Amino acid sequence: MQVTIDGPAGVGKTSVGRKVARRFSLLFIQSGQLYRALAYGRINDLDLESLSLRSRGKTEPELSIGGEKVREELTTEVIGEKASKLAKEEGIRNLVNEIIVDFAGDRDVLVEGRDIGTEVLTEAEVKIYLTASAEERARRRKKQMKTDRTLEEIEAGIKKRDNRDQTRKLAPLEPAEDAIIIDTTSLSEREVVERVSGIITDHEIREK
Ligand code: DC
Repeated sequence: MQVTIDGPAGVGKTSVGRKVARRFSLLFIQSGQLYRALAYGRINDLDLESLSLRSRGKTEPELSIGGEKVREELTTEVIGEKASKLAKEEGIRNLVNEIIVDFAGDRDVLVEGRDIGTEVLTEAEVKIYLTASAEERARRRKKQMKTDRTLEEIEAGIKKRDNRDQTRKLAPLEPAEDAIIIDTTSLSEREVVERVSGIITDHEIREK
């Protein structure tokens, strides 16, 4: 089974996606991490074509670039900004999409990102689009990160990134026509996990 979760920065795609993936034994892939790894590669002058996603059996696949495994180094705001800028380039998008499509193959996966349901896994059985107000997303980010930045500063950064992701010409952030949209502004993480899980279970029952 293939499940996609798309939505803007800070909406909870990763925390929700990881929990749902575990519950349904799906391999969890964060497509944003591939853009982030390419941003890291560009900054460190690595060969971008060396980006690879390798299976580690039942756990999350491993990402590497230039022969280096990358993970923690990708979580900074600087890398996030750079990734959002790089994501406007066609060659970059094609590279990421190809890696994800190849990896997904006939595996059971849950892939989260911005355009997975609209452009990458267009035949996915379940497509979810999460949204929340920018203010609420800033609040969640502030809680998540150890940062001196004020809530207002974080919200401004989120709005800037939303605007870039939504207005770019290639694969702008938007829900797929067949996506189920969940506004999570007033929902807890657990409630969102339950809703998404319910949608997947309903799909499984219908398919039986
Ligand atoms: O989800 P994230 O914050 O790690 O993503 C970083 C950037 O990568 C995001 O601002 C836009 C880009 N991105 C994208 O264009 N398409 C995706 N499917 C995932 C991320």
